[in-house]
Amino acid sequence: MSTRAPRNTFLPYCLPLLGEEEIQEVVDTLRSGWITSGPKVKRFESEFAAWLGARHAVAVSSCTAGLQIALAARGIGPGDEVIVPTMTFCSTANVVLHLGATPVLVDTTDDLLIDLEAAERAVTSKTRAIIPVHYAGQACDLDAIHEFAARHALHIVEDAAHATGTEYKGRLVGSASAAASFSFYATKNLSTGEGGMIATDDEEFAERCRSLSLHGISRDAWTRYTSSGSWHYQVMEAGFKANMTDLEAAIGIHQLAKIGAFTERRIAIADRYDEAFADLTGVALPRRLPYGRHCFHLYPIQLQPGVAKIGRNEFIEGLRDRNIGTSVHFIPLHRHPLYSGPRFGYRREQFPVSDAIFEGLVSLPLYPKMTEDDVADVIAATRRLLS
Ligand SMILES: Cc1ncc(COP(=O)(O)O)c(C=O)c1O
Repeated sequence: MSTRAPRNTFLPYCLPLLGEEEIQEVVDTLRSGWITSGPKVKRFESEFAAWLGARHAVAVSSCTAGLQIALAARGIGPGDEVIVPTMTFCSTANVVLHLGATPVLVDTTDDLLIDLEAAERAVTSKTRAIIPVHYAGQACDLDAIHEFAARHALHIVEDAAHATGTEYKGRLVGSASAAASFSFYATKNLSTGEGGMIATDDEEFAERCRSLSLHGISRDAWTRYTSSGSWHYQVMEAGFKANMTDLEAAIGIHQLAKIGAFTERRIAIADRYDEAFADLTGVALPRRLPYGRHCFHLYPIQLQPGVAKIGRNEFIEGLRDRNIGTSVHFIPLHRHPLYSGPRFGYRREQFPVSDAIFEGLVSLPLYPKMTEDDVADVIAATRRLLS
């Protein structure tokens, strides 16, 4: 048993790691006078696409906006059904509703990735798309998803909110993709405060997403305030207001330059946790599936009720008492009133795997800003409570 003294300052569940480069670039942006979408967004898009190995990257205001725009650009609308795993953040399914379509929730595997057998049973004549979520930073089996989608003539829109730096079979998730939406929210591996990016290899789709992110205006609207721009523009369809600003892109450019180091640090912390918790009874650690590289956006552990020494809620309280923050990813969608209530009527028994895992699910702090001492504190407190 550890003899390490409890912390006397609170370790938040997550913090971004922002350096002087990000600060200076934001100041430069403010001084330039160009604070909304402009040259820095263009630069961030092209550097992100080059890093990812994608043909196109379209910067947007959030991953949520990116998912909605990508679905809209594929023509998803009223009467359509879209398959979504229940273990995700609400926006993955809410965007489907915003388009007038119906999200159809399905269960996950033990790794909390979409279960394609459950998805198979959910397909109807109205199914038009599937949104695989690369949960916690672990890639879904994209080959199997492509095979499934091709068999049912479905669009794939990848929810890559957690997957900046994730690899599948040697390639970064989002490269060679029809559509993937990344998140740069404050807690994410690459953070711009708020922000997102749609990656695609499909040029026509990229142009439609770009237009949809800015009211559905014809594409030269981006440059209408430059010396080479024109006052004239045309609205092609009813788009959204979801463009990224240069202030966010200024941060993103420098976060992107560090993403390799950030990912290595995340994996190194995960390695330490794996080793430190290997002998705990009734505690399942996140597995690393052999086909990919987990980028450890999250480190969710599963406490097996009745087998682990204490329950999930008691564990969270115990860590809080020791000044350590945690989070739960996620309360599955079928447990929220929107989806369990009369409109959809989902029941817990329909999702046996994710529903049972949720009871013991908790994410430990894991981020590059953590010091070795922070990591040691999490390990000591976790072992004290669970061994
Ligand atoms: C799985 C998943 N999808 C989508 C989102 C939405 O991301 P954003 O806040 O950038 O819209 C999140 C955010 O936490 C998420 O965890």
